Amino acid sequence: MAPVSLIVIGAGQRGGGYARWARRHPDRASVVAVAEPSPARRARLAAEHGIPAGNAAADWRELAGRGRLADAVLICTQDRMHAEPAEAFAALGYHILLEKPMAPDEAGCRRIVAAMEKAGVMFAVGHVLRYTPYTRAVREIVASGQLGDIMSVQHLEPVGFWHQAHSYVRGNWRRSDLATSMLMAKSCHDLDWLQYVLGRAPLRVSSFGSLTHFTAANRPPGAADRCVACSVETNCPYSAPRLYRALLDRGDHRWPLSVVIDDFSPAALDEALASGPYGRCVYACDNDAVDHQVVALEFPGATTATFTMTAFSRPADRSTRLFGTRAELTGDGETIRVYDFLTRAERTVTPAAAGAMNAAEGHGGGDAGLMDAFTAAVATGNRELIASGPRESLASHLAVFAAERARLNGTVETL
Ligand SMILES: NC(=O)c1ccc[n+]([C@@H]2O[C@H](COP(=O)([O-])OP(=O)(O)OC[C@H]3O[C@@H](n4cnc5c(N)ncnc54)[C@H](O)[C@@H]3O)[C@@H](O)[C@H]2O)c1
Repeated sequence: MAPVSLIVIGAGQRGGGYARWARRHPDRASVVAVAEPSPARRARLAAEHGIPAGNAAADWRELAGRGRLADAVLICTQDRMHAEPAEAFAALGYHILLEKPMAPDEAGCRRIVAAMEKAGVMFAVGHVLRYTPYTRAVREIVASGQLGDIMSVQHLEPVGFWHQAHSYVRGNWRRSDLATSMLMAKSCHDLDWLQYVLGRAPLRVSSFGSLTHFTAANRPPGAADRCVACSVETNCPYSAPRLYRALLDRGDHRWPLSVVIDDFSPAALDEALASGPYGRCVYACDNDAVDHQVVALEFPGATTATFTMTAFSRPADRSTRLFGTRAELTGDGETIRVYDFLTRAERTVTPAAAGAMNAAEGHGGGDAGLMDAFTAAVATGNRELIASGPRESLASHLAVFAAERARLNGTVETL
């Protein structure tokens, strides 16, 4: 396979991460241009990949204006900045890896899928959980029929107390009007994963949930607007200095610290805590993302499923139980156990370890798996290698939109 050439749009957390995969696999891909408004991020990515100054732009439109510079583009801008570049680069004939969510509304998602189909380009969405060794193993067990008919599903996403505070109270996904709903921002992976392992899309959904804890009403007496000035900070589980200073002290410069500062010095962190968004009291932010939510789903075959997302957990992998007519599968994100009703024996499957299921560790091998599949598809022309193509991704986005409508309107939504 000849290496494919890539351009990166948005050299933030995701763009930087995918570009690093290319750097580690020079036989598979090379990054030849970047668009990124932040001078520091742009310069860093350009230097790491030997990109000439002429190919390092401040805005994706500059690169799009120059025709087709590479085989494929990685679109890694924020949630509300996906549709326009996706349409523009598809029209230029680029194959496209687009971060999830495709768009924060149904019309935007449909526009993107139509643009991909019109241009005939290969298209992968960042549903990285489809690409982990763990998911592959669960899916193979389901497809083998050894569980019988799956009648019930229980799936839990323990977001974790500090991750919630970082991303969904203080951070980029705290408000649905600036980004997207919590269900789309975080749990689109879960609704997508359920559809992928079960091999079918849901028929009906309902949902409950709310923002309950991270509100002004729960602000402890004596709390200040910023942790660094707060007299009760030492007793607060959500203290920003405790989280970020510990990471800096142990030299862990990956996500989430890399979101807070670009220069990994104590002075830069002090400044970010004193004046940036990540130093704010979790009870004094402008957030509306829910902190707990459940979704109930009915799938073809009368399979019922429940999904729970909660902020109020230690950070941990997602866990799942699939209850079949012949066996029960239990998975904790690392180990899969299958208890067979006939033999009454339990079998354990441990897929190759691929790191924890979080952004710092590449989502259990999913980030690398997606890049591996996408670049192989582009190099060989085999779009079957992409597990998260336009139609599958649209189906799972539609389920998320329906579940969120159900939560907001108190309805049962039919898909
Ligand atoms: N697949 C996953 O598991 C996963 C995980 C986290 C985030 N995401 C998604 O990935 C996307 C990016 O998230 P992130 O955390 O990397 O965000 P980020 O803010 O770190 O990066 C986005 C970058 O886009 C840049 N940008 C803004 N305007 C631009 C323009 N006109 N041209 C080029 N670049 C521009 C920003 O300066 C920023 O550096 C989001 O949609 C997010 O929801 C996916």
